[in-house]
Amino acid sequence: MENPTPGPDRTHAPPPLEDGLAASIVTPALIIDLGAARRNLRAVLDRTAGPGRWRPHVKTAKVPETMALFVDEGIRRFKCATLREAQVLGRLLAGGAGGDVLLAHHLHGPALERLAEIARALPGVAFSTLVESVEQIAKVPAEVGLFVDLDLGMHRTGAPLADARAIAAAAGPRLRGLHAYDGHRHEVDTGERRRLAHAGYDGLTALVGELGAAGIEVAEVITAGTPAFPAALEHPGLATLPGTIHRVSPGTVVYHDLRSTAQNPDLPAEFAATVLTRVASLPGEDRFTCDAGSKAIEAAAPDMIAAALEVPSARCLGQSEEHTVFQTKDDRPERGALLRLVPGHVCPTVNLANDAVLVEDGRLVGRAAVTARGHGQLE
Ligand SMILES: Cc1ncc(COP(=O)(O)O)c(C=O)c1O
Repeated sequence: MENPTPGPDRTHAPPPLEDGLAASIVTPALIIDLGAARRNLRAVLDRTAGPGRWRPHVKTAKVPETMALFVDEGIRRFKCATLREAQVLGRLLAGGAGGDVLLAHHLHGPALERLAEIARALPGVAFSTLVESVEQIAKVPAEVGLFVDLDLGMHRTGAPLADARAIAAAAGPRLRGLHAYDGHRHEVDTGERRRLAHAGYDGLTALVGELGAAGIEVAEVITAGTPAFPAALEHPGLATLPGTIHRVSPGTVVYHDLRSTAQNPDLPAEFAATVLTRVASLPGEDRFTCDAGSKAIEAAAPDMIAAALEVPSARCLGQSEEHTVFQTKDDRPERGALLRLVPGHVCPTVNLANDAVLVEDGRLVGRAAVTARGHGQLE
């Protein structure tokens, strides 16, 4: 159970909850501060100089009220990873000015027809997905556009750059662009991260030029999540591709978490999603145990599970399903004390909650279902 977690940097703390609110909430509870989330979006929009170069991933947002914040900021183009996210986001966009949703995964079997059904039901929204082989193309229903998925070295999905021309040519008029997610670029040394990321972007920029020379127009190139997006925006070649718009795709930043703070320490983002918990037990002189465990806070990175905003000195020792154990020397909270826990990795944490308490700068707004969470057959 030795998983020491750094204390949170208090400059990233969201505003405190208004008097009496926390005491009325059954714990554990996901709390989303829409004010903090809005400021996080604006911090990215400052870097991207407006919505044009950002295609955010909504795998973190998961809640329609949070997705609506992006739309309010003028963002209409998104990425998602699941059919449920595509449907929830698509309905939101269709109810407004329309938009564009890239389901950035490789769909096989009945999922392909399911995406086509969603696309047919929401005509104001353009849907697309990824392909990494010529054979995949014919299987994707005609209602769905195509991005060629390229592997910049993450080795998770995507074709080698050398195969891009054949796949793009086979996609013909259905080609929407190139997708090259470099989630492996999270080196601690940001200079090194930038250098390695730029080496990948040099290849990508050259490829777009080669495709253009072969008569294949690439309207959009998408790279970079939270760790690499500052470097991606600084790449001179990507920023000046004639006839091609380059977009970055960070998504975690909407709520921010301990891991993103470590990856982008300069980003002025707040912890907009926290898990409210009560101290359930005091199992030793220097320990306290909270009523939120791995079923409320996902330990995707076991060395960075959670930090308690109200007890910055506390180190997280470990988790079981309904308990998280902390150690602190000086300021151990009482049994029943209310604490806000900042997740190490907020995306899977939000995915665990059925609903969230929404606040705006600490003031209660209401409750919201986390409608885009999970997977399933029932839509
Ligand atoms: C394909 C893809 N794009 C974008 C993102 C967003 O990256 P981040 O979570 O670092 O913001 C992810 C994250 O998993 C992803 O898988």
